[in-house]
Order: sequence, then C-alpha cells, then structure tokens
Amino acid sequence: MILYNDQLVKRGDVQIGIEDRGYQFGDGVYEVLSVYDSKIFRLKEHLDRLSYCAQQLGITLPVSLAQLETNLYQLIKTENVQNGQLYFQVTRGAAERNHLIPESSQSVLTGYATFKPRPIEHMEKGVSVITTEDIRWLRCDIKSLNLLGSVLAKQKAAEQGAYEAILHRNGIVTEGSASNLFIVKDGKLHTHPTGNLILNGITRVAVIEYANELCIEVMEQPFTLDKLKRADEVFLTSTVNEVMPIIEIDGKTVASGKVGELTRRLQQVYEARLK
Ligand code: PDD
Repeated sequence: MILYNDQLVKRGDVQIGIEDRGYQFGDGVYEVLSVYDSKIFRLKEHLDRLSYCAQQLGITLPVSLAQLETNLYQLIKTENVQNGQLYFQVTRGAAERNHLIPESSQSVLTGYATFKPRPIEHMEKGVSVITTEDIRWLRCDIKSLNLLGSVLAKQKAAEQGAYEAILHRNGIVTEGSASNLFIVKDGKLHTHPTGNLILNGITRVAVIEYANELCIEVMEQPFTLDKLKRADEVFLTSTVNEVMPIIEIDGKTVASGKVGELTRRLQQVYEARLK
C-alpha cells in the first residue's frame, strides 16, 4: 500500500495527471525519513521542515500535519516496515501548463515505505568523495523536487567511483549533493551556516545538538575547499547516511586516512539516540 493524500491505497490505483506540476515543473516538496524499530526518527522536525518548504512555495498541504503523522505510522504498520525509510512528496497538483502559479489547484501527496538496511559497512570504513561546483539554484533551503543539480553532481561522483559529491560555490564548501558536510579542525566542528545555500538537514541539527552535549565547539561558518582538504576529520550527515565518515577527497586521503575520533564519538551518540 502507498499513501495518497489522506488514504492508504494500492499503488496501482493511483492516477496522477500528466499536467501535475510536480511532473512538469518539479513544483513540489519532499521528505525522506528513517524508521528505527517502528519509530520514525525526528518526525516532528521533518513535518516542520515540510511545512516551512510548502509555505515558501505557497503550496497548501492536502492533509494536516497531525493527520499526516497518523497516516505515516499507519503506512509503516501496514507495510510492516520496522526498519527502513519513508519517502513522501507533495506537488502543487494539476493545472493547464503555464509557468504562472495557478489560482487554484489541488495539491497531491504520495508516499511509500521501504525496507532499507543502514549503510553499516560504509559507516564503519568511511567513504571517498569528489568535489565539484555547486550549480544548484539559490533556494537550497527548500527541499524541492527540482533535483537536477544534485543528480548531475552525484552522477559525476559515481562515475569516478566516489560515494558522494561535495559542492562548492567559488571555493566555499556548501554541502553534499544529498547531505550536509562537517569537518573537524583542532577539535572544533565546522559546517556551513543555514541560509539559502544549504538544506538545514534534520541530521545536521541532531549532530550539532549532540556535539553541544559533548562540549564540542561547533562553528557554523563558511570555509574553503582548501580548509576541507586540510581537515583533521571530515564526515557527511543525512537521514540515509547518518554520520558517514569521509576518508578520501578527490583521490587524496583525509589526514591519516582513518576514521577520526570525534566522528566515531558522534556516530556512537547518534546510534544511542536512534530509538
Ligand atoms: N537528502 N542536503 C541536501 C541537499 C539533501 O538532499 C539532504 C537530504 C540533506 C540532509 O538532510 P537530512 O539530514 O534532513 O536528511 C542535506 C535526502 C535524504 C534525499 O534527497 O534523499
């Protein structure tokens, strides 16, 4: 079963109009959430972000957040997904094709749950990344369905055998194609500040919270590619990747090439708070 507006229905029973603006313009927003032991991790934060993003685009959600919460729990129960992921999106709905936002259209929510194992091996050993120019638009704070800038960057990484692409604007590191980025330098964490150039990841916020609890100083300030490459430790964060160590950037090892100590401590706290 899948989620269709406020109902659980069979996947094959859903009909999306060919003029749905999500389909034609990428006019919509989405969320990816993790399920651990039948509990949705930081659901409230995801719903708050959904609400913010929809509001920024003037999209009215087809269901209340309270109803959506109930429906998402019903979905994972029906699909028997105790550990895995939830995806859902809301588009502005169908209207005659025109760049102008239609005066009235009925927004459409679709979502589904899947079993997906955690990337344990990668989290243990660390991954390699490439760096590439950030060619995305200037409202990266909105989790919009327009993902081509990210798609092309991630594809470039994969073609070079790398796990993720780290994006920069004129030498300033912003985030990953589908993740946020942290570095450790002299015992302090550094990450790009929130604003229009990055998505404020739910995992990013969680990691900053956990770092504060561990009395690790967090500097939310822009830093350069050069600083990234001279970091003591580097890791990325996302719902899917949790705290993912980076051990190689553009073919060169990060520090000793081993997963760093602060990264490990944050992974441990993250793990302890999952359930
Ligand atoms: N991506 N930055 C970008 C550009 C992202 O696409 C994502 C998430 C993040 C991390 O956000 P969070 O911690 O809330 O997952 C940061 C999702 C997982 C995706 O597109 O699949």
